[in-house]
Amino acid sequence: MIDTIKREIKNNLEKYYKDKYNVDLQIVVEEPKKKELGDISIPMFVVVKTLRKPMPEIVNEGLEALKSFDLPISDLGAVGAFINLFVDKSKISKNIIKMAIENDSNYGKSEVGLGKNVTLDYSSPNIAKSFSIGHLRSTMIGNSLKLILEKCGYNTYSINYLGDWGTQFGKMIVAYKLWGDLDKIKADPINELTALYVRFHKEAVDKPELEDEAREAFRKMELKDPEYLDLWKWIREESLKESQQIYDLLDIKFDSFNGEAFYNDKMDPVVEELEAKGLLVEDDGAKIVNLGDDMPPALIKRSDGGSLYITRDLAAVFYRKKEYKFDKILYVVGNEQKLHFEQLKRLITKMGYDFADQVNHVNFGLYLTNGKKASTRSGNVVKLYDVLMTAINLAKAQIEEKNPNLANKEEIAKNVGIAAIVFADLKNFRGLDIEFNINDAVKFEGQTGPYLQYTGVRIASILRGKEFDYNNINTDLFEKPHYFELAKLVSDFRATIERAANEFAPSVIAKYLLTLASSFNKFYSLEKINVEDEVTRNTNFALAKAVRVVLNEGLRLLGIKYLEEM
Ligand code: ARG
Repeated sequence: MIDTIKREIKNNLEKYYKDKYNVDLQIVVEEPKKKELGDISIPMFVVVKTLRKPMPEIVNEGLEALKSFDLPISDLGAVGAFINLFVDKSKISKNIIKMAIENDSNYGKSEVGLGKNVTLDYSSPNIAKSFSIGHLRSTMIGNSLKLILEKCGYNTYSINYLGDWGTQFGKMIVAYKLWGDLDKIKADPINELTALYVRFHKEAVDKPELEDEAREAFRKMELKDPEYLDLWKWIREESLKESQQIYDLLDIKFDSFNGEAFYNDKMDPVVEELEAKGLLVEDDGAKIVNLGDDMPPALIKRSDGGSLYITRDLAAVFYRKKEYKFDKILYVVGNEQKLHFEQLKRLITKMGYDFADQVNHVNFGLYLTNGKKASTRSGNVVKLYDVLMTAINLAKAQIEEKNPNLANKEEIAKNVGIAAIVFADLKNFRGLDIEFNINDAVKFEGQTGPYLQYTGVRIASILRGKEFDYNNINTDLFEKPHYFELAKLVSDFRATIERAANEFAPSVIAKYLLTLASSFNKFYSLEKINVEDEVTRNTNFALAKAVRVVLNEGLRLLGIKYLEEM
């Protein structure tokens, strides 16, 4: 509601200056850092600059104009170049609560993305390697962004761009032929294949010729050698089964699983186009495109004719532009691929297309275990599935302790454990490296997912079986700071979602929910909710209900289930 009033003030003032002086001003409406100054603050510098009148005159005129608008403003004044005002808390709070309760899961919906398409590329694990915790970040951030963007009205299309092509398959095949034991692999495919992959890298230190053999094997795959392709297909299916387990657990779905291999027959036209546009240069038998002094060239074809990661991404981006008509495409991929996406954008521009600025590398930091990156190659693997299971077991132990008679313990523990992992990730701005402690993450207190679920459960139990009329409330109560603080937070929901969508940052919502939950818990410690007086009771219940609506929907946007009990 504050953001609605802010918008109305902006529109009203801009119209006022337009009507009176025929000028197009961009009025800034903000919230002052010091709360005692007001709820809303308007710096008048732009007006002074355009109208060329002294500041005091401008400020006075602004104050008069604001008084003439029919807005829920209770008090206003000026400090220097700033007009500060207080909103009529009683009036707006009632409205905020009513809106939240009546709109329920539609509350916070925005229309900023209506009619626009966003393609999201996330998760994208590498086949034949374990689904590592490093891919968790991409999966969860991508899934949350999809939900956030949909809430803002965008059409989304989600792609799991499987790493199912490339020289690593050549390595797998060479390793399999040298040391593979089919029975062992069939019994435990991913672990055995991972072990083979690790062994390949160990042995290749002393026998570099293995790398050549691997390139040759991949070359054969690209030329559709049936024996190798069969082997590849089988490995792909087995790997996908493992990833699917995790998607099922997290309840995540994709619109497409077209991975790198899908583009095997779509690269030639792109390479020909590069050639025709005179961009492709011979370099020691390989084909490259020079991208400028600030960036290394893009290697498009190896000297043996093999394609590369960037070749496939280039083919993919054109295919997606044509197929999904994106206004934006999001690649949720680690910081370490920054250069790759800069090169991709530069290639698009060099080829004469104008959509490079629609391409967004939604980057994220590393997951550290004991200060070190988890990687498959060195064998220092942290399996996402194991991490999730550990969290679920820890959650179960806490439930056993706190609420042993709970029905449906298994299902609830699952959702709490997942909430712990997901929230521990999403509460951090994605660009940062994170080192997280699983024992802290599953706690019901602190900045955790279970804490938010627990706050929701607390409200659910307060409201269970209660009847109240949210239209018959005591608006005067909102003059109390802890009442108004909550109403204001509820009203900030939509603006918060829009900001998360603009910055591609679920952490914006995660942090907001923490503030909301702690404000509610403060409220709860200060006020008895179920009081004698009916109108006060209505007010308390209605406020709690509005907070619950936001908490539920906010958690959903992060990919976390809200619970009735835990
Ligand atoms: N499979 C890649 C990796 O794990 C990520 C793919 C990201 N998406 C893309 N279009 N390049 O490193």
